[in-house]
Amino acid sequence: MEQQPLRYFDRDLLPHLVYSARLLATFCKADRAGLALTQNATTALNGVIQGHVRICRERGVTPTIVVWDISYGSVKKMANHQFGANVVEIPFQANFLHKLRESPTEEVFLKALEQTIDSADKSWENSLLIIDQTTSNTALNLPVRALAQRAKQAGMLVLVDGAHGLLAQDIALDSDDYENVDMYVSNGHKWLYCPRGVAMLCCAKEELRETTLRQPAVVSHGIDDGYLSRFLWDGTRNYAAQLSLPLVLDHWNRRNPALVRTTMRTRLMDAIQILADLWHDGCVLSQSGTAGTWLFDLASGLLDGRSCRFIHLFDTSSVVSFTDSSTSVVSSTVSSTSMLAASSMALSTSSVNPSSSFDSFAF
Ligand SMILES: Cc1ncc(COP(=O)(O)O)c(C=O)c1O
Repeated sequence: MEQQPLRYFDRDLLPHLVYSARLLATFCKADRAGLALTQNATTALNGVIQGHVRICRERGVTPTIVVWDISYGSVKKMANHQFGANVVEIPFQANFLHKLRESPTEEVFLKALEQTIDSADKSWENSLLIIDQTTSNTALNLPVRALAQRAKQAGMLVLVDGAHGLLAQDIALDSDDYENVDMYVSNGHKWLYCPRGVAMLCCAKEELRETTLRQPAVVSHGIDDGYLSRFLWDGTRNYAAQLSLPLVLDHWNRRNPALVRTTMRTRLMDAIQILADLWHDGCVLSQSGTAGTWLFDLASGLLDGRSCRFIHLFDTSSVVSFTDSSTSVVSSTVSSTSMLAASSMALSTSSVNPSSSFDSFAF
C-alpha cells in the first residue's frame, strides 16, 4: 500500500472489500446485492434514519420514527436529532418490563407496541419502527418476527438494529423470521469478533435501496453508483478491519456457528446459576437472553436501598455491567472465574455520570 497508494486504493482494495461483503452475505443468508459494508452500526443507522426523513420530506409527508425507551441511547439521539418533534418512544421499561416475569416475552412486547399504535388516531404509513434485536443496557432479545409482522400490518417501515446479532444469533435474513424486516443492521466487531470497524446494512428490497437508502450518511465517490458502491468508500482511511472478514468467517464456519452458540449459552447459564444461587431464585428476569447476554433483576430488599437493578451479563469471560434504574451503566471487567466477585461489586458500585461532556475536559 505505501509503495503505490493510488494503485492500492483504486485497484486492489475495492474488489477485496466486495469479496468481504459477498462472504458476509453468504454467512447471514442475505441478498448479495443488498448487503453494504459500513464502519459501524452507528454509520448504518444514521444512513437509514436520515434517509427516511429525507424521502418523506421529498414526498411531502411527515415522517415518524418509533423507538423504545430501552433502545440504544445514541439511536434515540439520532432520531431526535433528525426529527425530534415526531419521535414516538414506546415506554417499555417504564410500563412493561416488570411483566416479563409473569408473561411470555413476545406477548409483553406485542402489547407494548399495540398500545403505542392504538394510542394515536393517525396513520402509521410514514413511520419507521426501530427494533433493537438485543438491547444494549437491558440485555433483552426483542421478538423481531412478531413485532415486524405487527408493524407491517400498521404500515410501518421496519429497521432492526441487530448490533449484537452476528454470530450471537442464528441470522438467516432470507428466512420467514425476517420477511417483514425491511432493513437490518449488524456489527462485525461484537460477537463475530472482527477487529473494530466492520458492520453491515442489509436491505433486500431494491425499491428501498433506491429511495430511503439512496444516500449514505457519508457521501463520497460511489454516490452515483449502485447500493454497495455508495456505502463502500467513505474516504481514505484504514479499511483493514473489513478485509479481515474472509479470515474471521472462515474461522467460524470451520467451528460451526450453531455449536459455538450452544457452548456460549451453556457457559452463560452456568454463570447465571452461580449468581442466582448467590442472590436469590427469582433474579433471572427474562428468558430471552442471547447466547451471550442475560437480564437479572435484583430484588429491592437485596439492594438495601442502592441503585443497581439490572445486571447485564456477558459470557466469554469479560464484562459484567450494572444498569441502574435510570439506565446509566457502570461496567466492570471480571474474569469468568471471578463471577462470584461480581455479586459484591454489584452492591457496591455507584453510578457514572452519563452526561459528562468531553468539551469540558481540561487537557
Ligand atoms: C443495540 C446497539 N445499537 C447500536 C450500537 C452502536 O454500535 P457502534 O458503536 O459499533 O456503532 C450498539 C453498540 O453497542 C448497540 O448495542
